[in-house]
Amino acid sequence: MIKVAPSILAADLARLGREVEEIRAGGADYVHFDVMDGAFVPNISMGVPVLASLRKATDMFLDAHLMVDRPVRYVEQFCKAGADLVNVHVEADSAENISAALEKIRAKGVKTGITLKPGTPAEAALPWLDSVDLVLVMTVEPGFGGQRFMADMLPKIRTLRGWIEERGLACELEVDGGVDAETAPLCIEAGADVLVAGSAVFGLADRAAAIRAIRGE
Ligand code: DX5
Ligand code: ZN
Repeated sequence: MIKVAPSILAADLARLGREVEEIRAGGADYVHFDVMDGAFVPNISMGVPVLASLRKATDMFLDAHLMVDRPVRYVEQFCKAGADLVNVHVEADSAENISAALEKIRAKGVKTGITLKPGTPAEAALPWLDSVDLVLVMTVEPGFGGQRFMADMLPKIRTLRGWIEERGLACELEVDGGVDAETAPLCIEAGADVLVAGSAVFGLADRAAAIRAIRGE
């Protein structure tokens, strides 16, 4: 079953608790939480205090996507605040420091993820593929919601799905950026099993229908 992870970047953050209730009732699997630092990406979103408040408001799975430089500095704070999975960009630091960040997350008993920007080849995931719980392929340049899906990322999704199958890994394959009812089937066909969607969920009044449409139901 395909999982849907609405990105609350597109939600009305003044009523975040209600927004999360609505997507939960609508059958969402994860809450995708986009963290932007104004340095790794040219935008600033939300951070640890918002995640901590959200943790108190819901028992949904919180999938924290850290678009921040040198995430090793912050991962423990996100774990402590209640993230269920903390995801770091492989481009955000040296390989050694990315490994250190993943170790810190694991040591807190939290699931680990790595993310690849559109310009980063699938091979960049290889050092960590056997040990992480999730790999995220960006299908837009990270930093903003509401961008157009990059169909030229589909071969990368296919390559990663192939490696996950060959190696018999439990690792989930997530896609983020421009996913809607039209592009979701392409991602699913290429082997994605978790679909992030911001505008395609929160841009529609009927969140349940939006989630069903993305899942192809
Ligand atoms: C982009 C974020 C995405 C974004 C997706 O940097 O990582 O999670 O919120 O938004 P949509 O679905 O509108 O492209
Ligand atoms: Zn994201």
